[in-house]
Amino acid sequence: MAYSEKVIDHYENPRNVGGFDKNDPSIATGMVGAPACGDVMKLQLKIGANGIIEDAKFKTYGCGSAIASSSLVTEWVKGKSIDDAVKISNTDIAEELALPPVKIHCSILAEDAIKAAVADYKKKNQ
Ligand code: FES
Ligand code: FES
Repeated sequence: MAYSEKVIDHYENPRNVGGFDKNDPSIATGMVGAPACGDVMKLQLKIGANGIIEDAKFKTYGCGSAIASSSLVTEWVKGKSIDDAVKISNTDIAEELALPPVKIHCSILAEDAIKAAVADYKKKNQ
């Protein structure tokens, strides 16, 4: 399979790998798995009092497309409000990375990770 240059770039130089303390109230954690292949993605967001995402980190156990998708969304969410971040869709990710159809579920994982993290934040801060 031919991967796009953007996938290979994010795979070889992943942005924002790592994690934050999940017990910190400003940290939101989204952990999702892909039933199709068993891959796992953890996305953490550092959210300011104004609901703006100040920082993001990820750890992904999975294929190159999943790593590239998570790396990309850590860049995209920074500076966005949580309400705008949840509007990032897997089609935006798949288009940016030119993912082939068989790899679409990898981008869905990244979309779901954002939504899971924001849901975690809302639960923690209600
Ligand atoms: Fe799991 Fe892609 S099938 S690495
Ligand atoms: Fe399963 Fe990419 S996340 S193949």
